Amino acid sequence: MSSEKYLALQKIAIECAKEIRNYSHVHCVSHIDADGITSAAIIARALERAGIDYEMQFVKQLDEKIVKELSEENHDLVIFTDLGSGQIEHIINYGLNAVISDHHRPQGQHSHHLNPHLVGANGSYELSGSGTTYILANELGDNRDLASLAIVGCIGDLQYRKYGKLVSLNEEILKANPEHVMAKMDLSLYGKQTRPIHKMIQFSTDPYLPGLTGNEDGCIEFLGSLHFPLAKDERWKRWIDLEIADKRKVISAIIEYSIGHNVPKANMDRIITECYELVQEREGTETRDAMEFSTLLNATGRYMQAEIGFAVCLGDRGEYYSRASTLLQEHRKNLVDGINYVKNTNGVIELSHIQYFDAKDKIPETIVGIVAGMIHSSYNRNLPIFAFSNKEDGHKVSSRGTQILVNKGLNLSEALEVVCKELGGAGGGHDIAAGATIPYGTMDQFLEKMNIMISQQIGSG
Ligand code: C5P
Ligand code: C5P
Ligand code: C5P
Ligand code: ZN
Repeated sequence: MSSEKYLALQKIAIECAKEIRNYSHVHCVSHIDADGITSAAIIARALERAGIDYEMQFVKQLDEKIVKELSEENHDLVIFTDLGSGQIEHIINYGLNAVISDHHRPQGQHSHHLNPHLVGANGSYELSGSGTTYILANELGDNRDLASLAIVGCIGDLQYRKYGKLVSLNEEILKANPEHVMAKMDLSLYGKQTRPIHKMIQFSTDPYLPGLTGNEDGCIEFLGSLHFPLAKDERWKRWIDLEIADKRKVISAIIEYSIGHNVPKANMDRIITECYELVQEREGTETRDAMEFSTLLNATGRYMQAEIGFAVCLGDRGEYYSRASTLLQEHRKNLVDGINYVKNTNGVIELSHIQYFDAKDKIPETIVGIVAGMIHSSYNRNLPIFAFSNKEDGHKVSSRGTQILVNKGLNLSEALEVVCKELGGAGGGHDIAAGATIPYGTMDQFLEKMNIMISQQIGSG
């Protein structure tokens, strides 16, 4: 039995699908992150099965300039996935014939617009772009097998974070497709399928384990003290190779260690979460684990190589997969370098209601938001964090909050929308995470205005 929200979305999806079927050729535009790439693969597969030709375009973000370019290209129909809801004004002004399948906070109204916010669901944790597009795809035909991609997308957007598991519309997609995706409570660390256990702990940035994260010898020693074989047939064991009893030992030891090392409660809560496996995928590969899969995709799209991730989503396990694996290693290194850059330059500056750092050209603008999210737990959790990075047309701004702040009234998307408009920039996103571009030379004004805006949202307490 589907929920009311699901049924309401299906109703809109039927209308959007009807519009799409009017065309034999469409142009698709999607976002470059894991959610955007899985959304792209879902719509692509659905179009292909419906006998509709398409071409796929990936963009860092949608802005007026790109909408204008699209209008000049005279496409019969443009399908936007995982973006578009924040740029409806431009889409209408430039006369684009469009279908929008997105989960960002809508700015404007459109006649073919599928978005969880329209049925009272929050797009930061109830449904992602990939989930929205999954619902649309299933009105174009029977595309239930694409549920695994829908789950990879919402995990990439960290939608399990709020409750430590998927809920609401995401959970409905999950539960309806046990032959494709399986959920279980497990250690949340990244790399359970593919990394030696000590490496998995060494690279644990979420949660950050002080003394263990980044310390290979320390991790080997830590595991050694638990007295079970760390290797088999001269190969380091991965998490999936461990006996249940040994897994329990490791989990208890990590929790005990965290208590002993004053790991903040918010991080402790993230040690065990619901985890998602793609049951049709080969064990021991990135694509088996939804978190690893999503990171593999981010490693392609956020470096302007979304086509590689797209091919992997569509089933390539050969050349594109191996190129994605290479990019993944660089991506993980860039994240660690980014975190270290902020920590070592001691760059997080606190104002009364916000904190920020400026990575300038040291962290690429496409991953500065991830870095901000990852380091937030080591700084002041009572203040949202803003990160700046240089891009060609201005400062990229990325912001991240916490659930507690959102409960107090924080809405980063709304705050960025208002402040950036005043400064000649544009932004949007979600209550808990949002991004924008502002003109060079406006950072000081931005900080001042944002500090006031956030104090108004969350009060002076
Ligand atoms: O573009 P978009 O919607 O796909 O990205 C959502 C962003 O929100 C991601 O960067 C994700 O990490 C962030 N997020 C977060 N905390 C949450 C939920 C989402 O930082 N609880
Ligand atoms: O930009 P957003 O905040 O979506 O970042 C979510 C992404 O961050 C994940 O998909 C993953 O690629 C990356 N991440 C990671 N390691 C962590 C936490 C997040 O690679 N420990
Ligand atoms: O880029 P970043 O990871 O900080 O983005 C956080 C959220 O804000 C994402 O959901 C992204 O799609 C959204 N965003 C936006 N408009 C921008 C930049 C980011 O809606 N100009
Ligand atoms: Zn998304």
